[in-house]
Amino acid sequence: MTPALEAVDLARSYQLEGVSVDALRGVSLRIDQGEFVAIIGPSGSGKSTLMHLLGCLDRPTSGALRVNGTEISALTDTALASLRNRTIGFVFQSFHLLGRTSALDNVALPLVYRGVGKVERRARARRALEAVGLGHRLDHRPSQMSGGEQQRVAIARALVGEPSVLLADEPTGNLDTRNGDEVMAILDRLNADSGVAIVLVTHEPEVAAHARRQIHVRDGLIELDTANRQGASAGGVAPEDHREEGDG
Ligand SMILES: Nc1ncnc2c1ncn2[C@@H]1O[C@H](COP(=O)(O)OP(=O)(O)O)[C@@H](O)[C@H]1O
Ligand SMILES: [Mg+2]
Repeated sequence: MTPALEAVDLARSYQLEGVSVDALRGVSLRIDQGEFVAIIGPSGSGKSTLMHLLGCLDRPTSGALRVNGTEISALTDTALASLRNRTIGFVFQSFHLLGRTSALDNVALPLVYRGVGKVERRARARRALEAVGLGHRLDHRPSQMSGGEQQRVAIARALVGEPSVLLADEPTGNLDTRNGDEVMAILDRLNADSGVAIVLVTHEPEVAAHARRQIHVRDGLIELDTANRQGASAGGVAPEDHREEGDG
């Protein structure tokens, strides 16, 4: 099956007052359809930069990225936005919702850009909100909701277009434990039921443990990818050892 995402030697430098910051220095990884991956690493190690590149919110300084098999470097900004809209959902730490717009309209918004008609939009947005347990909050505004509910609205918005991949940058970072657990339970269920691949960034080992694969990033490079440790490149050969290493 075509990988959901395939990055080869991705690099990204930022120019800041004449100084070049090498935020990402050559990252290669493949995310298969249906995977659940956690990206872990110290603050400033390049996690968000990597997520923005994988999510086509930004372009690499060098390196290649294929999204569902399409190499993005030759795409115009419009074509890239369209590819992103159809294949990628993004969830941010701080939700990024329109505070005074109903949950239903927030969730329906990505479908506006796709030219879906209003009745169909609202029906799909309602189903997406029901899938995150917010079927009773359709007309509520994010400004009237708890942080956990707002993040669930953001997840519904990310998934309303039925993307192949959900990218979540510290989705529980602004939530207390209870709301964080609830959001993770929803992500677990969505990954299992709909088969959407999930890549999430987290500082919290308990959150990272929800994923089946962990990628450790440091100084703009991948330090460890548990997919490689388990011989995932062996082409269909089952790993002999399924034990997880304790994280102490
Ligand atoms: N827009 C930007 N302009 C300049 N430097 C940036 C920008 N975004 C990130 N950086 C720098 O790139 C490095 C990686 O940042 P980031 O990807 O946000 O790390 P993380 O998400 O792991 O905390 C840091 O040194 C950060 O200061
Ligand atoms: Mg970050």
